[in-house]
Amino acid sequence: MAESETETDTERERETEREREAGAETAAGAETGAVPGARAFIELDGVEKVFDVRRRTGFLRRERRQVRAVDGLSFTVSRGEMVGYIGPNGAGKSTTIKMLTGILTPSGGRLRVAGIDPSRERTRLAHRIGVVFGQRTTLWWDLPLIDSYRLMHRMYRIPDARYRENLDRCVELLQLGELLDVPVRQLSLGQRMRGDIAAALLHDPDVLYLDEPTIGLDVVSKAKVRGFLRDLNAERGTTVLLTTHDLQDIEQLCSRVMVIDHGRLMYDGPLDGLHEAGESERTLVVDLERELPPIEAPEPARVVRVEGPRQWLAFPASASAAGLVARVAERYPLVDLSVREPDIEAVIARMYAERAGA
Ligand SMILES: Nc1ncnc2c1ncn2[C@@H]1O[C@H](COP(=O)(O)OP(=O)(O)O)[C@@H](O)[C@H]1O
Ligand SMILES: [Mg+2]
Repeated sequence: MAESETETDTERERETEREREAGAETAAGAETGAVPGARAFIELDGVEKVFDVRRRTGFLRRERRQVRAVDGLSFTVSRGEMVGYIGPNGAGKSTTIKMLTGILTPSGGRLRVAGIDPSRERTRLAHRIGVVFGQRTTLWWDLPLIDSYRLMHRMYRIPDARYRENLDRCVELLQLGELLDVPVRQLSLGQRMRGDIAAALLHDPDVLYLDEPTIGLDVVSKAKVRGFLRDLNAERGTTVLLTTHDLQDIEQLCSRVMVIDHGRLMYDGPLDGLHEAGESERTLVVDLERELPPIEAPEPARVVRVEGPRQWLAFPASASAAGLVARVAERYPLVDLSVREPDIEAVIARMYAERAGA
C-alpha cells in the first residue's frame, strides 16, 4: 500500500520531519499571550482533514482519491481535564493529535490550543504542549538518554533550575535513574516509553498528548506509566489527551471519554455511560474438570461458547465477577478461570449495533 500511494509517502515524510523539528524548534519568549485559565483549553469547531491520495492502478495509471480522516469534529477540553480519545483503527485519532500539535494543517474548521492556532504558530505552541507517540521515539537513538534531555534543555531554553527540578522528578517517578547513561536503542520498549514521557515534560507543558503510550508494554510498565500520569494530572493540573486501545488505561485515568469513528465524534461523556451505550460485557472463561453441557449461569450471565471442558460466560461489565465465580464454583467442578475485559472495538461495535437498532 505504501508503495502505491506516493503522495501519501511524501506527506508522511513531511510529518516526520516536522515531528523532529517540533523538538528542535526554539522560540524566544516562552510566555505566550494566551489567556490563562480560559475555560476551553482545547477547542475544535467543525475541524476537517482531507488527505489527497494517489494510488497506482496500473502501469502509468493513477487514481486520485480523497481520504476524509477527520470530518467535522467539534469538542472542547477544559484545563486540567484528563480525556480518553478512543476509536477503531483508522478513525482519525492520530490525525487529530497531529493537528493539535501543528504537525498537520486542518483542511477546514477552527482549532485552538491555549488560544493558539497550532498550524500557524507551531513554534509558540511547542512551549505549551508535550507529545508522545507510542509508535516512534523523539529521543536520539544512539545517544544515552541523558544526552537527549540535555539537548532538549537547550532547544527549549528551559531555565536551569526548572530543568533540573523537572528532570529529577521524572527520573524519580518514572524510575529512570539507572537508564540515564544507556543509549536509547538499548532500552526496552517500556523503558523507552518512560524516557519519552519524561522528554515530553521537561519544559513543563500545560497539555500532554499521548498517542498509544501503553501499546506493547508489559503489565508492570503500564502500571508505572498510568501511576505517573495520574500524579502528573493531580499535582500539576496538566491537561491530558490520551489515545489508547486499552480500556483499562481509560478506566484508571479518565473521567471523560470521547469516541471517534470515521473522523466523527460518536460519544462524549463518562466511561460508565459508554459501557451502558455499548452494553459492554466482560467474559468469564472457566476450565471445568471435564466436558459438560453449558453451565446454567445465574441471570444475566450466559454461556456464549463451549470448547471441550472450557466455557465462556458473558456478563455485564458493570456487574461483579466475584459473585458469578462463587455461584459457578458452588455447582461445577472448576479447575481454572480468568476474566476478560471488553476491548474497545467490541464496545464500539455494540454501540453501533444499538444505534442501528434504535
Ligand atoms: N498522511 C496521510 N496520507 C493519507 N492518508 C492518511 C495519512 N495519515 C492518515 N491517513 C488516513 O486517515 C485515516 C485516519 O488515520 P489515523 O488518524 O492515523 O487513524 P487512527 O490514529 O485513529 O488509527 C486513515 O484512513 C488513514 O489511512
Ligand atoms: Mg493512530
